[in-house]
This record gives sequence, structure tokens and C-alpha cells, in this order.
Amino acid sequence: MKMLKSALASLALAGSLATTAAFAAGGDIKHADIDFSFEGPFGVYDRGALQRGLQVYQAVCSGCHGMKFVAFRTLADENGPGLTDDQVKAFIAEAGYEVEDEEGEFSPAQTYDYFPEIKSAGAPDMSLLAKARADGAVHIYSILTGYTGEEKEVAGTVLYENTAYPGGWINMAPPLYGDDVEYADGREASLENQSEDIAQFLMWAAEPTLVERKQAGVRNILFLILFGVMLYFVNRKIWSRVKHPE
Ligand code: HEC
Repeated sequence: MKMLKSALASLALAGSLATTAAFAAGGDIKHADIDFSFEGPFGVYDRGALQRGLQVYQAVCSGCHGMKFVAFRTLADENGPGLTDDQVKAFIAEAGYEVEDEEGEFSPAQTYDYFPEIKSAGAPDMSLLAKARADGAVHIYSILTGYTGEEKEVAGTVLYENTAYPGGWINMAPPLYGDDVEYADGREASLENQSEDIAQFLMWAAEPTLVERKQAGVRNILFLILFGVMLYFVNRKIWSRVKHPE
């Protein structure tokens, strides 16, 4: 009996290890095959995509997902959406963002304020979402385009089948269908295009200094190469008298 118990226990352990391993390896999650402009050592954010992504965030996602670590003023970042200061102010005013002071009084948000935090919807904050998941932008794109149309109700909650979500069922109704916004720059607002733009925008929100860091990395490597070449010649010069005495 004791042996049976421990055999069962190790079976259960092996089983759970196997599922963890399968999960870690991606399990049955399907990730879309998509490339972004910011990938690779010389990759940069696409300003147009970031501005369109901001439009999608504002029109659709901001209803449930907050973005509490992103300050409005960063929308003017040169390696980011690159809005002018006046455009940032107009964005805040148009969206009607307000801040509450200690007395509970509301006043219009300023450029140094942050996007709000939203707790009521049970949706994760978007500031760091793209970094909190492996391959974040691809993950976000894949979820937005991964709905199968199947639904089921579990304990009073509706779940939506999604090929990119761990477990296959997500508690978020499809937020995008296509033509959810009308792009200011005229790009077709298909489901795929909108998903690509919001994924890129959320990557920027989570990693606004990605481009600067890459540029610094490239500079460091160039420096190391030059330094290496210089050392080589200095070394030869120093030793030449020893090796070839006249
Ligand atoms: C009606 C509310 C609502 C809206 C609007 C909404 N979401 Fe969600 N979202 C949720 C909820 C709730 C969850 C948590 C789902 C779960 O835990 O199963 C979620 C989860 C997610 C996830 C998965 C996060 C993870 O854990 O990996 C992504 C990605 C996501 N949302 C992106 C978006 C994007 C992009 C938009 C806008 C285009 C959007 N959502 C609009 C409610 C919403």
C-alpha cells in the first residue's frame, strides 16, 4: 500500500513536471509569424506605427487596461511616437484625462501626469505587458489575431477560445475586429494592421529606451573593435625591437 502510494505520488509529480515542461516549451500556444521594425541590432521603432497604436489604445484598450507607468510627455519622445508638445496637450484634452488631488477634486491632467491605472476591469496594466511576456509584441499580436470564435461559460464567466493564450481560453472578448478606428494617416485598419500597430506601441510603452540602448551597444562594439586593432599594432611595435634586434 505504501509502495503504491509513493508510486502514485511520483507518477503525479512526473505528470506535473511534464505539463510544466510542455508549458514552458510553449505547449499548444500558437504564435504568429510576424516581424517588427524594432527587432535586430539596428532595429528602430516605426513612428507611424506608434502613433496608430496610440490611437488603437485610446479608442479600444484604454477602457479596461490602464498604463500607469507611462507619462503623457513621453508621447513626444523622438524615438517614440514623436508627437509635438501641442499634440500631446491636445491628446490629453481630447481624451479628457483628469487627475484627482488629495481633496478629491478633479482637474485636467498635465503633460507630466501619467496614464491612469484601471483596477475595475480585471485586465492587466499595459505599461509593462510587452516585457512581462516572452516575445511580448508577437504574443500580443498573436492573441489579438488568435480568436477562433468559440465561446464557453465556466462558473458564470464567458471564456473565448484563443490559440495564442496559455490554456487556450481567455477571459477577454475579442477587442478588435477590423475598422475599430479610422487611421489618421489613411492606413487600412484591418484586424492584422491594428494588431501590429498596438503591439508595437505596447512594446515601446514597456521599453521606451530600446533604440538608445541598441545604438549604445553598437557604439560599444565599434569601439572595442577599434581598440583591439590599436592594441595589436601597439603590441607589435613594442615587441619589434626585442624580436628583431638590429
Ligand atoms: C472589455 C475590457 C477589455 C478591453 C476593451 C481590452 N481588454 Fe485585454 N484583457 C481584458 C481582461 C479582463 C484580460 C485578462 C484575461 C484573462 O485573464 O483571461 C485581458 C487580457 C489581455 C491580454 C493578455 C495578457 C496576458 O496575460 O498575456 C492582452 C495581450 C490584451 N488583453 C490586450 C488587449 C488589447 C491590445 C486591447 C485593445 C485593442 C484590449 N486588450 C482591450 C479586458 C479587456
